[in-house]
Amino acid sequence: MSYNADSRGYYGEFGGAFIPEMLYPNCEELRQNYVQVMQEDFFKKEFQQLLKDYVGRPTPLYFAERLSNKYNTKIYLKREDLCHTGAHKVNNTIGQILMAKRLGKNRIIAETGAGQHGVATATVCALMGLECVVYMGEIDIERQAPNVARMKMLGAEVRPAKSGSRTLKDATNEAIRDWINNPVDTHYIIGSVVGPHPYPDMVARFQSVISEEIKWQLKEKEGKENPDYVVACVGGGSNAAGAYYHFLDNPKVGIIAVEAAGKGIDSGESAATSALGKVGIIHGSKTLLMQTTDGQITEPYSISAGLDYPGVGPMHAHLFKSGRGEFISITDVDAMKAGLELSKLEGIIPAIESSHAFAILETRKFESDDVVVINLSGRGDKDLNTYIDYFKL
Ligand SMILES: Cc1ncc(COP(=O)(O)O)c(C=O)c1O
Repeated sequence: MSYNADSRGYYGEFGGAFIPEMLYPNCEELRQNYVQVMQEDFFKKEFQQLLKDYVGRPTPLYFAERLSNKYNTKIYLKREDLCHTGAHKVNNTIGQILMAKRLGKNRIIAETGAGQHGVATATVCALMGLECVVYMGEIDIERQAPNVARMKMLGAEVRPAKSGSRTLKDATNEAIRDWINNPVDTHYIIGSVVGPHPYPDMVARFQSVISEEIKWQLKEKEGKENPDYVVACVGGGSNAAGAYYHFLDNPKVGIIAVEAAGKGIDSGESAATSALGKVGIIHGSKTLLMQTTDGQITEPYSISAGLDYPGVGPMHAHLFKSGRGEFISITDVDAMKAGLELSKLEGIIPAIESSHAFAILETRKFESDDVVVINLSGRGDKDLNTYIDYFKL
C-alpha cells in the first residue's frame, strides 16, 4: 500500500481536488508545474541554500536525557522550534514563495491559525519583496497578538475573518474567496497538508526535509537511520507529514499522530478529528471531518490555535483509516502539563501545539531501548500569555 499521493492527489480514498470551477485554472497551473519545478536543479539549489542560510537548517536532533530518564525510553527531539520564525512552517513558505516566483506571481495570500504560518509567509514575502495579505480569525487575532504584530512589522496586511467560529477554518474560507477573485497575479500559500491537490503533496514534499535530516542525524547518533517511533502533533498535519515522510513505507517505524482533544473528546469542544470525524469535503479535499449528522462542519476547539481545525489532511485520514498511524487525542489540561514539564526538565518552552505530542509520554508506554523521535514543531514564545494565564505565573 502507498502512503503518498497518486497522480490525482489521492491517498487511498482521500484527497483529490473538489473545487469550484472558478478555482480550476489556479489549481491546474500549479498541478501541471509543481513536480517538474521542484525537480529543477536551479530551484533545488535555491531552496536548499535558503533553508541553510536563512532558516538555519539542519535543525538539531537533540537527545533529551532528563526526559528519557523520566519515561525510561530514548527520546530525541527534532528541533523545528529553532527554525527562523520559530516553527516548521517556514520550510513550506520558502518552498512556495520560490514556486510563486517561478510561476510569475507577484501577490501572496495566506491563512493562519496560530499565526506561525502567517509570520512565516510575511517573512518570505519581505525576503522576496512581494505583497502579502494574511487572513486570520478574529479569535486567533486576539489570542496570538504577538504574531499579529510581527506580521504587520514584516509589512503584511492582516485581514480578520469574522464568520463562523472566527478561527482557522473561516480564515481559510476567506483566503479561497480572495484567490477566486484574483486568479492571475496571486499565489495562495496554504500552510498545511490540506486543501485541493496538489497542495497536500506539495507541502508534504517541502516539509519532508525534516525526516530526511532525522535519518542521517540518527545514523550519526544511534548507528541506524530508522527510529522505532516518530511522534508529531496534527493540526492540518504538515509538521507530522514532514516528520513521517521518509519512514512511511517502512512498517518497522511506528507512526504516532497526536490530535487535540480540547476539553475532552465527548465534551463537544475538541478538535479530535480521527476520533470524531466522518468522511466529508473541506477546503477542496475529501478527508475526515468533524460534522453534524446532516453534514454541517462542527466548530472545533483547542487551547492551541494551530490544532483548532475540524479536519486533517488526506494523508493523515489515510494513515488513520489504513491503520498505518496510531492516533492519540490529548486534552488541553494534559498538553499544558506536558509543556510545563518540558520547560522544567529540558529548558525548552514548546509551542502549545507541540506540547500535545509530549503529553502522550504519560500514557503511551515505550520499551527502554526504543528510539522515539518527537517532532518539536515550534517554540512557545507566541503562547507565553496563554501559559501565564493558565498557570498564573
Ligand atoms: C508550532 C506549531 N505546531 C503545529 C502546528 C499545526 O500545524 P500542522 O499540523 O500543519 O503542522 C502549528 C500551526 O500553526 C504550529 O504553529
